[in-house]
Amino acid sequence: MTSPDYDHFCRLIRQKSGLVLTPEKAYLVSSRLAPLARAEGLGTVENLLALLRAGASDALVQQAVDVMATHESYFFRDTAPFEQLANAVLPPLIAARQTQRSLRIWCAACSSGQEPYSVAMILKEMGPKLAGWKLDILATDMSEPILRKASTGLYNDFEVNRGLSPERQTRWFKRETDGWRVSPALQQMVRFRPHNLLQGSAGLGVFDVVFCRNVLIYFDIETKRQILDHVRRAMAPDGSLLLGSAETVLGVSSAVEPVPGLRGLYRPTDGAASRSA
Ligand SMILES: C[S@@+](CC[C@H](N)C(=O)[O-])C[C@H]1O[C@@H](n2cnc3c(N)ncnc32)[C@H](O)[C@@H]1O
Repeated sequence: MTSPDYDHFCRLIRQKSGLVLTPEKAYLVSSRLAPLARAEGLGTVENLLALLRAGASDALVQQAVDVMATHESYFFRDTAPFEQLANAVLPPLIAARQTQRSLRIWCAACSSGQEPYSVAMILKEMGPKLAGWKLDILATDMSEPILRKASTGLYNDFEVNRGLSPERQTRWFKRETDGWRVSPALQQMVRFRPHNLLQGSAGLGVFDVVFCRNVLIYFDIETKRQILDHVRRAMAPDGSLLLGSAETVLGVSSAVEPVPGLRGLYRPTDGAASRSA
């Protein structure tokens, strides 16, 4: 599918979300837009693309952006980042924050919530080391429908069987008629809020740890660089950034640098942790 309407749609999606669509993605675009075209009574994807080019409502544009985003996520995705959080990131932070006794963690592009709830489980499982601390997990995504799902804390059998050990499922979830509900103890640690990574990080505050995983892969290099700069500005000097296993800053940004031996873990290039390393 190549047409002025398709080219306009690619520009629109890039402008709204950063997501890069190329002519080779036409099949993906078509399969994801078809249900929306039917739901809107437009019949075909071509009609939907034409309407989006002619001038559609903000709500329809937002729906089209949402369906083009990949929301795949699961608990303790890739395992290693969560082990690094527990074993390499939190111990020095706990030592450094003994006076404030507070930690802030940002899950940027959190999708349906499995990532921030996994982080909450790790924090809870630190036991007495974090007892009485103020723990704030901010979980953001550009998609409001996926945030609504995340904030219910309700997952089906398939979702709880992806990445969760039976022990964690028993400890942190309760069976309900519609699925498995995250315990209130974890839910109250996580705040969900809409946020588009293209809009920078002003107003979000400063974070000790940032998870920005499996989202940079969808952007072009300049967008990745801008987002990494924004993320760096939102990090404490001794903070940590965790990226996805297919993501790297090499050749993209010098705002953060890899922590040797810990794949996917980054520290601010000019940060306190880097200076003392
Ligand atoms: C594949 S999911 C990653 C979820 C989670 N971080 C993980 O690793 O499992 C990508 C998420 O990025 C979100 N996203 C895409 N572009 C975004 C943007 N410009 N700003 C904020 N979120 C965005 C999508 O809505 C989607 O929920």
